[in-house]
Amino acid sequence: METVFQPRHQARLRRGKIDVGDADLGESQFASPRAQGFHQGSDIPAPASAHGLMSIWSLMHPTILETRKLHWSDETDCERWAQALARRPALRDACIELHGTLGAGKTTFVRHLLRALGVAGRIKSPSYAVVEPHEAPGLQAWHFDFYRFNDPREWEDAGFRDVFGAPGLKLVEWPEKAAGLLPTPDLRVHLEPLDEHRREVKVEALTARGQEVLA
Ligand SMILES: Nc1ncnc2c1ncn2[C@@H]1O[C@H](COP(=O)(O)OP(=O)(O)OP(=O)(O)O)[C@@H](O)[C@H]1O
Ligand SMILES: [Mg+2]
Repeated sequence: METVFQPRHQARLRRGKIDVGDADLGESQFASPRAQGFHQGSDIPAPASAHGLMSIWSLMHPTILETRKLHWSDETDCERWAQALARRPALRDACIELHGTLGAGKTTFVRHLLRALGVAGRIKSPSYAVVEPHEAPGLQAWHFDFYRFNDPREWEDAGFRDVFGAPGLKLVEWPEKAAGLLPTPDLRVHLEPLDEHRREVKVEALTARGQEVLA
């Protein structure tokens, strides 16, 4: 198979064993009742006394409603998972954060997803522009990369608040760099490279829409 794009890193596609079936979005692991309301897995106790502090805590640590673990043997698995997500109607208004080190595969996943959603032409990486808008029939999408985002004033000036408040698909690389400004996403995808091709993937649904996308 030939690659249809030119990411920053050399793309090497090969076929391999696929754990995620075409329509399979991964195994579900529901959050335990104990974890509801707090960041799953966190051992830090929530401030219990003041209601205001609890609200701030909930904003900073939104409830993880559902967690899925995937294993991608190679980029073909990434592509197939992107194609499966693209078939979910709820995806078109979702906000998805992509976490992972440089070269983990965030942009690669976004490109496969936008392709599967019908975006034609070259899908540029937004590294320098912070955001690249994309359109396809029935789709308005924004691909953010906050890696070089260092002036919070740009959040208002560039109209990012309006974009995140509007319908449409929002895909966000390096959300950590805009922490405190971004709304709670519907999905958080964590990509962990095991070697050149294999990725451990953890997907967290933080909203009902996120759960719908994974349903
Ligand atoms: N299973 C896989 N899933 C995704 N990408 C893979 C996989 N195996 C290999 N790759 C390759 O890893 C590279 C990932 O690069 P990519 O630009 O997507 O990373 P990134 O996470 O966006 O990095 P950055 O933080 O620099 O933006 C690509 O060359 C891609 O072809
Ligand atoms: Mg990238």
